[in-house]
Amino acid sequence: MDKLLIQGSASLVGEIPVSGAKNSALPIIASSLLAEGPMVIGNLPHLQDVTTMIELLGTMGVEVVMGERMSMEIHSSTIKDLVAPYSLVKTMRASILVLGPMIARHGKAKVSLPGGCAIGSRPVDLHLKGLEAMGARINVEDGYIYAESDGRLKGAHIFMDTVTVTGTENLLMAATLADGETLIENAAREPEVVDLAECLIAMGAKIEGHGTSAIRIKGVPTLKGCHYDVMPDRIETGTYLVAAALSRGKVTLKGARADIMDAVIAKLEEAGATISIQKDSITLDMEGRRPKAVNVTTSPYPGFPTDMQAQFVVLNSLAEGSSTVVETVFENRFMHVNELVRMGANIRLEGNTAIITGVEQLKAAPVMATDLRASASLVIAGLKAEGETLVDRIYHIDRGYECIEEKLQLLGAKIKRVAS
Ligand code: UD1
Repeated sequence: MDKLLIQGSASLVGEIPVSGAKNSALPIIASSLLAEGPMVIGNLPHLQDVTTMIELLGTMGVEVVMGERMSMEIHSSTIKDLVAPYSLVKTMRASILVLGPMIARHGKAKVSLPGGCAIGSRPVDLHLKGLEAMGARINVEDGYIYAESDGRLKGAHIFMDTVTVTGTENLLMAATLADGETLIENAAREPEVVDLAECLIAMGAKIEGHGTSAIRIKGVPTLKGCHYDVMPDRIETGTYLVAAALSRGKVTLKGARADIMDAVIAKLEEAGATISIQKDSITLDMEGRRPKAVNVTTSPYPGFPTDMQAQFVVLNSLAEGSSTVVETVFENRFMHVNELVRMGANIRLEGNTAIITGVEQLKAAPVMATDLRASASLVIAGLKAEGETLVDRIYHIDRGYECIEEKLQLLGAKIKRVAS
């Protein structure tokens, strides 16, 4: 199993490109199941989760042709098997995103129930309730969701009890082919939901209100294929901005979109960073300063993203002053804290709050990644730790960060992948 070896070193300086957004790519690939013709998806990040989604479509009989420069052509008319098996769903919860498109287009789906995961129980009850409101019959048996519908789904008025990103995406995709109008209230406003909606519109869907908490969809009988480029990854962008800030460096992220990063940029500025926004890039300059501690509370977009929480715990661990980081989206998303404490961070956990007193320097230690963002936080902690940090179980990182060691090396970090 590969590990990352990081030598705590000087400030990060330089320019790197931002990859396509994982959390847009996954629903957009799933949306190709709705199209009558071939879909061409561009700016796809080269990530394990994207490979898993393609493998999932492949097991269903969908034809996928890899194109040039991170693009892919998907022909879903060759679909044979409307099943998402446990063997793939267990490796990636986002596999649930094939449920909405399959039932909407084919009137039938069998999808393994995703289990709990490292960051909490993560139910999918709201996905199922919404589909039932659209007339689908849902049965959960032997760990599988069996969904069926006689003819087209029906438009419905759906109120989501909790803001759920993939839940909103599943119902949005299902509603595009439903008979009549669907209103999704308390919908997720995340930019990835907007990106999916724009792709669906390019396929011929009739959608209004995406990006707000009320999305209105007028069902159409068919959707066509289209060419769509995935937006840049705001979490990858934010992760490198934090890495630059805690290393007291100056880094430019090419291709980044600042307009969808307000909450993160505001916190980085509060931490003392000078941020300049160009047409398609963001530059963070610490001018050699130590970051100041900032309080953070996660919440759905446009609030501070839970996917940036672990990285800010590291930033605060090295910052001047004390801070609190409150996690409100997931029940158990502080697994990085114990590992950071082993590296010399001063963090106390009280329920869903981390109370952090910044230290000047962390100390290298062998650490273990437990989930995607937690692992990224351990890597950036290693950049500012005295000695050599060995991060184990980095398959989590490969699920969501394209070429992380190459990108950090370009910024001057001493990091390498080692096989064990
Ligand atoms: C998505 C993102 C993930 C991010 C998360 C929150 C993808 C592929 N993943 O995950 O990176 O951390 O949004 O921004 O886009 N919930 C229910 N019932 C449901 C669905 C969700 O109670 O049916 C709860 C969850 O347990 C959680 C909260 O809603 O507490 C938000 O989860 P959700 O937005 O659904 O996360 P994901 O879509 O799985």
